[in-house]
Amino acid sequence: MAKIYVTDASGTDQVVDASNGDSLMNALLEAGVDGMLADCGGGCACATCHCYIEGDGMSLVGEVNAIENVMLDSAASERRENSRLSCQIDISDALDGLTVTVAENG
Ligand code: FES
Repeated sequence: MAKIYVTDASGTDQVVDASNGDSLMNALLEAGVDGMLADCGGGCACATCHCYIEGDGMSLVGEVNAIENVMLDSAASERRENSRLSCQIDISDALDGLTVTVAENG
């Protein structure tokens, strides 16, 4: 279980309880986080789950994989050094306290 501190696409802050083994995308989707569209359902094929990982979180969430890397280039919002597709991040205890900003995905 991890508490994820989220700023949604409208700039509203909320805390989401995410279960181990779930994807960050699914946790945000189930919590109804504004801006989390996830049109492809987690298939790494749409980039509408684009998030920015804040603080030192990038050291915790693993590396961008090859397909994700291509998809991030097609994201609706600017790709930054802290850009990730949230469907490619698996929740674990190590991510407790992760801070994330949802990109404009529409
Ligand atoms: S949900 Fe489509 S790329 Fe993540």
